[in-house]
Amino acid sequence: MSTNKRGIELLQDPALNKSTAYTETEKLAFGIVGLVPDVTETEDLQLNRVMMQLGHKNTDLDRYIYLINLLDHNETLFYRTVMSDPARFLPIVYDPTIGEACLKFGHIYRQTRGMYLSITRRGKVKEVLKNWPQRDVRFICVTDGGRILGLGDLGANGAGIPIGKLQLYTACAGVPPQYLLPMYLDAGTNNEQYLHDPLYLGLRRSRPSTEELYSFVDEFVEAIQEVFPKCCIHFEDWTGVDAVHLLERYRNKYCVYNDDVQGTAGIVLAGMINAAKLKGTKLSNEKYLFLGAGSAGIGLANLLCSALVEEGLTLKQAQEKVYMFDINGLLEQTRKDLVDFQKPYAHQHAPTRDFVAAIESIKPTTIIGVSTVGGAFTQKIIESMARINERPVVLALSNPTERAECTPEQAYTWSKGKAIYAAGVQFPPVHLNGRTFLPGQANNFYIFPAIGMAVFATQASRVTDQMFIEAARAVADQVPLDLLNLGMLYPLQSNILETEIQTAARVAKLVFNSGLARVERPNDMLAFIREHVYAPEYKDQTRASRTA
Ligand code: NAI
Repeated sequence: MSTNKRGIELLQDPALNKSTAYTETEKLAFGIVGLVPDVTETEDLQLNRVMMQLGHKNTDLDRYIYLINLLDHNETLFYRTVMSDPARFLPIVYDPTIGEACLKFGHIYRQTRGMYLSITRRGKVKEVLKNWPQRDVRFICVTDGGRILGLGDLGANGAGIPIGKLQLYTACAGVPPQYLLPMYLDAGTNNEQYLHDPLYLGLRRSRPSTEELYSFVDEFVEAIQEVFPKCCIHFEDWTGVDAVHLLERYRNKYCVYNDDVQGTAGIVLAGMINAAKLKGTKLSNEKYLFLGAGSAGIGLANLLCSALVEEGLTLKQAQEKVYMFDINGLLEQTRKDLVDFQKPYAHQHAPTRDFVAAIESIKPTTIIGVSTVGGAFTQKIIESMARINERPVVLALSNPTERAECTPEQAYTWSKGKAIYAAGVQFPPVHLNGRTFLPGQANNFYIFPAIGMAVFATQASRVTDQMFIEAARAVADQVPLDLLNLGMLYPLQSNILETEIQTAARVAKLVFNSGLARVERPNDMLAFIREHVYAPEYKDQTRASRTA
């Protein structure tokens, strides 16, 4: 961190600004006497002021705008605020508030953040990337706005997603913010409402052909290798088919991953591991039936199969344990409408469009809802699962809340307290017949920031499925038995930084064991990760400038 700046220039740099916390020595050294109130406040006092001001905001969107404004002026205080109470602030800086912020992105826009790269710059991508002021970029989170959360094609309004997602690398796992670059690739939008909105901030054209889009992404990915050679590219919120195809296109060649495909799969796998633990069995003894065979479903099925192979099954045996059901019924071998990546899960079975009939015939131990259809797990479905299984596992992962395939209350009530349940969103505890159940939230933010920290610390050259499986195991292992017995499959969010540090250490160990690290192996992996963790604390800038 350079402290060559002085006076008003120093106060206007959000990475350096300490606002009312400058000491007398710093004020004299940097020529800021008289430019700030003549006090020296502690960070805790500043945090109290932030909390008080937040208390006057009426909606989460107002709180989001306030916090982003704080980030634009004082990065340290922003992260100190978010990291002081992650369970409270993560839903404001990220999902679900971020969805509303994206819908209104062009309207609430105040200041630029990250980069905007238009398809009209093809042939000049490298030059545009060189405009970014930091030379050592370690993570780019990139979207084309194609499928933002469950909200569809939001075009340039989707730019809020990479911004929010990268903040979680820092807030949840301590990746230092100066290495992070949010990126929006603008290839147009098919969202008519935005195309006609005068405040829309993207290209006013419809989306190009897949071929044209992929050639633009090719140029972008190749340019990154040259401009930011240590950078890992995190793909986020592309349409399902693009997500799967672009991941396949680059994963063996460059350091890339897709959080919707792999991160989601990782966190759901963690829940499955703990569900198996609760039942006293292992993953390979279970049978899985998915409702939904899109990018989330396929990503999860693939990662699950890799985990089953690690338990000793062949890939074919693993795939035979996974059945899928989509809008046209059960995936089976006579179906003519399947895409390449769905075919491994189309088994020999009579065609059916009746999910209950499929349950009765296949006898799954676990049903996984990734269908986007709220209420799709009906009473009949849960009762059927409870009849077949002593402890049916019900994962209702679609979001937002109204899209969850069933609520925890429904799952526990209809199964007479037998179900092991998790959702994609946070639900409150359920009290039933004198028992308390804690439904867990399969939220990616337990996984991708930890993977990010491990990649950052080890300078890993690739991101592999095995890293997500190890992260899933590490997350699962950190749920204490008393919580697990209440049905809670995930660690508590209040302690997320420590959980992710432990997870990152395990993933980092795997990176070294796999020969993918580009730094020397440390003796103590946990201490090594801790050395890399960003702390939202002001530095003595007179000392920083002397040692710079
Ligand atoms: P997608 O659009 O790629 O796939 C949806 C799938 O559901 C398709 O296979 C479709 O045929 C099927 N489907 C739709 N209506 C159906 C019906 N009535 N009956 C049976 N199948 C039906 O969507 P994607 O990206 O796979 O996401 C699916 C859901 O998973 C979304 O709601 C998303 O929010 C959620 N999700 C949850 C995550 C979590 O961590 N909890 C992370 C990522 C996605």
